[in-house]
Amino acid sequence: MRDSPARPWSNEALHERLLAIPSMLTDEERKYLIWLTRTVFTWRGAVLDLGPWLGASSASLAEGLERGGHAGVVHAFDLFRWERCYMQMDRAPDLADGDDFHPWFRRMVAPWGQRIQSAPADLTSYRWTGGPIEILFVDAAKSWALTKAILQSFGPHLMPGVTRIVLQDFADSPTYFLPLVFDAAPTAFREVEAVDIGTTVTFVVQPGADLAAVAATCDPEQFPLARSTEIFRRRAAACQGLQRSLYLGSLCYRSAEELEVAQLDALEAEIRTAYPKVTADRIQRYRDASCRLVERGWQAIQSGDLQQAASLARRALQQAPNQPWSVILSTSVALRQRDEKTFLASLQKLKSFPDQPEYLLFHAEYCSHLGDLLQAEADLLATLVLFQDRPTAVRWALGLLSSVLRRQPDLQRAWRVVQRLPAQDLLGIEFQVLCAEVALAAGHVAEASRACELALAAEPDNTRAQHVQHSLAARRS
Ligand SMILES: C[S@@+](CC[C@H](N)C(=O)[O-])C[C@H]1O[C@@H](n2cnc3c(N)ncnc32)[C@H](O)[C@@H]1O
Repeated sequence: MRDSPARPWSNEALHERLLAIPSMLTDEERKYLIWLTRTVFTWRGAVLDLGPWLGASSASLAEGLERGGHAGVVHAFDLFRWERCYMQMDRAPDLADGDDFHPWFRRMVAPWGQRIQSAPADLTSYRWTGGPIEILFVDAAKSWALTKAILQSFGPHLMPGVTRIVLQDFADSPTYFLPLVFDAAPTAFREVEAVDIGTTVTFVVQPGADLAAVAATCDPEQFPLARSTEIFRRRAAACQGLQRSLYLGSLCYRSAEELEVAQLDALEAEIRTAYPKVTADRIQRYRDASCRLVERGWQAIQSGDLQQAASLARRALQQAPNQPWSVILSTSVALRQRDEKTFLASLQKLKSFPDQPEYLLFHAEYCSHLGDLLQAEADLLATLVLFQDRPTAVRWALGLLSSVLRRQPDLQRAWRVVQRLPAQDLLGIEFQVLCAEVALAAGHVAEASRACELALAAEPDNTRAQHVQHSLAARRS
């Protein structure tokens, strides 16, 4: 670990044109990047920015090149696909999930012109062919897999003794794997700089470093809790205040995964002592780390590994028995494993949670599987009445309601239910498709035909409406 506390970048000026770019970096991190390309850069390789978002990091690196009188450029790579959950922040453009924000990036970095070259790229599969790299700024290593892919793709182009790998997420708790991977390879990397306010830590690649071997360690199985604890404890002991609290936070994340709940309580107290200004929000984030068990459980279901999904669901429930998502995961696994006892017990518990669209909808799904069509119908009608302003929930509810109503023995009653829906407040196309399907099932051909035409006029490719249209045509011929 670095032994010099000096922060020579603290005097770099942050001009208005830099501050105008919304950023996830702290001011100190921006100053550090300017200082890096202004004073450390020696022209021996390229300057790369992996994950520039709206361009603040690229602009800081380019600013340093300019201030240092260097002729180089910054190469920036990003998916450039908007994710509201973490990008929709103050002063950022108001974009929808999945929108391309490359044009926004270009607009933000316009003052640096051709000094910044950018291209959309998915770093999980991207291959760099631009020769030796001197500065590799990484703000996209958000998972074990991405860290591994970045080391594999860019590793062969790093120059031993010269290249700086600047890890923006190093001290951030959700990316706790970075200290694990890098600190476990002391012969491959030497730490040279770290910011005070922020999470950036920089390493120089060492002569003889086997980066392919380091990439192979990007795997949670390689870091059992005891080994992880040792690494985070060493980090925490070497610093104070905010930084110390961050590494203890990383240990919280790792402990939460291993269900070391008692350890979490002790760690929380330690964090508060190290950094009394820690927010309740951040403490909650450590506690919520357990939710990642649920995420991994869904991934296991999707990949067909029910055994793994069941084990994760059990662990999530042990850790957070009253967390609705732990219960939903456990119900879904039990359903797929045909474990009736667990399924019914979980279903009962799900019913006890306060009304939220997702809980009601999952409950409806499960009741529909059980054949309890009236309960499923009641959940779906409650969703449509209570959550009319939630388009995703309404869409999901209408789709499921159609299938639930068409399976009921009394189809005339089902059709009356549809006619009583508050149609004007619901999503147009989905509602017309539901009308068309239930009317057809109940034998009301004229109503089915009218609803079908309305749905297809609005969305000619709607496959469910097309299906009703074919059935109507078959009836007529
Ligand atoms: C925390 S933001 C970067 C913040 C930015 N460096 C700044 O100065 O404000 C992380 C960026 O990584 C990008 N990213 C995430 N996964 C990626 C992937 N697989 N390939 C390329 N970019 C990715 C995101 O699109 C996002 O812009």
